[in-house]
Amino acid sequence: MLNLTYLSHSTFILDDGNHRIIIDPFISGNPTCPVKVEDVDAGYIVLTHAHGDHLGDSFELAKRHDALIIAVNELATYASSKDLRAHNMHIGGAYTFPFGRLKFTIAHHGSSSPEGLYMGEPAGVVITMGGKTIYHTGDTGLFLDMQLIGQRDKIDCMIAPIGDNFTMGIDDAVKAAEFVKPELAIPMHYNTFPVIETDPQRFVAGVENLNLDIRARVLDYGETITL
Ligand code: NI
Ligand code: MN
Repeated sequence: MLNLTYLSHSTFILDDGNHRIIIDPFISGNPTCPVKVEDVDAGYIVLTHAHGDHLGDSFELAKRHDALIIAVNELATYASSKDLRAHNMHIGGAYTFPFGRLKFTIAHHGSSSPEGLYMGEPAGVVITMGGKTIYHTGDTGLFLDMQLIGQRDKIDCMIAPIGDNFTMGIDDAVKAAEFVKPELAIPMHYNTFPVIETDPQRFVAGVENLNLDIRARVLDYGETITL
């Protein structure tokens, strides 16, 4: 059993009843996030890259809850330099944590700290927890190697950006679902700012039109589903 909560933008919480992970916690400063930083508690913080709308409140949360930050080397080292606990990984590598297995994948994007420091490669992440496997693509354009990600792990739930401009738009995200073939596809990274406004139901319709038995659904801000 795995509970998946969408806070908004790219921020998701995974909870199997024993462990809680938050991915890309962009809470304060996020006009669409329904909770406050004080309302969030997690033992692990997984970061796809260091842009402000993903690094977000990570450091404050890590400090408050003594949470472990999991990220690629450059970003993990940056977190360590701020006296936070960090687990240093890199793309293609998997590690088994108390909550389950986590593997970083490629993503086509950028990654720099708020001061403009180089933070290594941006990433996607495949997490197996509570008997389910989630692929959160991070911020990325479409790439053919998504097929390989879907072949290496049977993906129960794929979370993909649809907002365009900085990442895939809807048409490319539908193609991404076709490449990965998850059980369920969930859109993210849209409607947070005017430049990424779009209608997520067009993504749902596009995925259903593939006729590949892939379910798609839009999650409300703060909504939890059980996978
Ligand atoms: Ni970004
Ligand atoms: Mn972003």
